[in-house]
Order: sequence, then C-alpha cells, then structure tokens
Amino acid sequence: MPVSVVVDRSALMRAAAERIATLAAEAIERHGRFDWVLSGGSTPEQLYALLASPEQARRIDWARVAFFFGDERCVPPDDPQSNYRMARASLLAPLGVRADQVHRMRGELGAEAAAEDYRAELARCPGPGANGLPVFDLVLLGLGGDGHTASLFPGTAALDERTRWVVGNHPDGLVPRVTLTYPVLDAARRVLFLVSGADKARAVHDVLHGTSPVVLPAARVRPHSGDAEWLLDATAASALDERASTP
Ligand code: 6PG
Repeated sequence: MPVSVVVDRSALMRAAAERIATLAAEAIERHGRFDWVLSGGSTPEQLYALLASPEQARRIDWARVAFFFGDERCVPPDDPQSNYRMARASLLAPLGVRADQVHRMRGELGAEAAAEDYRAELARCPGPGANGLPVFDLVLLGLGGDGHTASLFPGTAALDERTRWVVGNHPDGLVPRVTLTYPVLDAARRVLFLVSGADKARAVHDVLHGTSPVVLPAARVRPHSGDAEWLLDATAASALDERASTP
C-alpha cells in the first residue's frame, strides 16, 4: 500500500496536485481523456482551489477532463452540504469547464432515484460505462474518522452492494446519500486517498494496519489495478509506525 507522508496540510495539497497532474497527463496520453471521480467533504476543497489557481491551472489540459462524483448528499446542488457545490466553487467554475464535462449526482432527486439516475449517466458516458463496469482513471477519496469513505459508512447497506454501480445510502443521523459502490471503486485505474488532520489518525492506523475483526469501509477498497495510494499529512499519519514511507 503506497503511503506517502508529508509535513503539513499545505504540503499535502501540493503533493496531491502533483500526483493528479501526472495521472491526468498519463490518462490523456493513453486515451485522450482524464476521467476523474472527485471526492467530497472538506479536505479536497483546498486541493481543488490549488489546482484551479493561476500557478497550477496550466499544468492540466482541463478541456480533456471529465469530472464525476464519488458520492453526494441528497440536497439541492446549491445547498451548503452539496459536494457538487463545493467542487463547482473551488474547481469547476474557476476553470470554466464546459457543462458537458461535469457529471453531477442529482442528490435532490432522493437517494434511490438519484442512484438510478447516476447509473444511467455513467452508462451514457463514452469512456466509463462503455461496456461492463465504468473504469475511471482516478478515484479521489477521503476518510472519515469512523473509517468511512465516499458514502460507504460502517454498518450501512451500501457496504454489501456487489452488483449495482451506484446506490442510495442512509447513514444514521446524516442526510441521505448517493454513493459509488465497491465494484466501481475497485475497477478504477488509480485510487488515491487524501487525508489530513489528527482527527483521522486512528482511522488511518486502523485502515492501514488495523487488526480488528471489523474491516472498516475504507479498508475494503481494493483496486484490481493494484494498491490504493495514500497521501497523508503528518498529523493524519501520527498513529502509524515508522513503516510508512516519508518522501
Ligand atoms: C462526503 C465525502 C466523505 C469525506 C469524508 C472526509 O461526502 O463527506 O465523500 O467520504 O471524504 O467524510 O470528510 P472531510 O474531508 O470533511 O474530513
């Protein structure tokens, strides 16, 4: 499991921007497009803003990027909880990408209807979903303190889905969600976890080195293409032993 630890949050965002620029160039070279599943939550917002910044934006041929979402809350797209709203404000609008490049999960339809709607969207896409499972060039994921990723939360039905590509999910105490499922996450060419903060340290340790009988949702992401990559800042890695590589 490639694990890279950098000194702080700013360094983490720079390292992630570097990695994404490399993966984008490789994908565009390979098949003319970069099919990227964005992560939600708060951590990636700083990364998205950096990628869209004048100093970084020229590094990626954004016109060749197709943007997808790993999960969404079942709220309108202009709701403060919306992952799309965050991505639009920090990345998509500043870059001025075309509307047809963005494949939004329509969470406002309600969990199950939005899941079916997104399945149909993926099936229509020229790249992912062309035949069999959608294959994305990169799935960017975050990690919750409880070990969840995307909207695959401990103890929820979505964890057991091995056929459908997208499902609704209803984590206790949270707004209903729509999430990609393990079959789609595992079909990706690259999976990159981006984790920052001491509040994630225990979950990082338990996912990467945990011995508990309960396998946390993030630990169940097993890309067929090889190990998921982990980019951590020092606080998120603070519960790991020295085995984690430090560039
Ligand atoms: C979401 C995300 C979720 C997120 C983690 C970490 O919709 O919330 O997809 O999986 O990545 O909860 O969130 P933070 O980055 O806000 O800590």
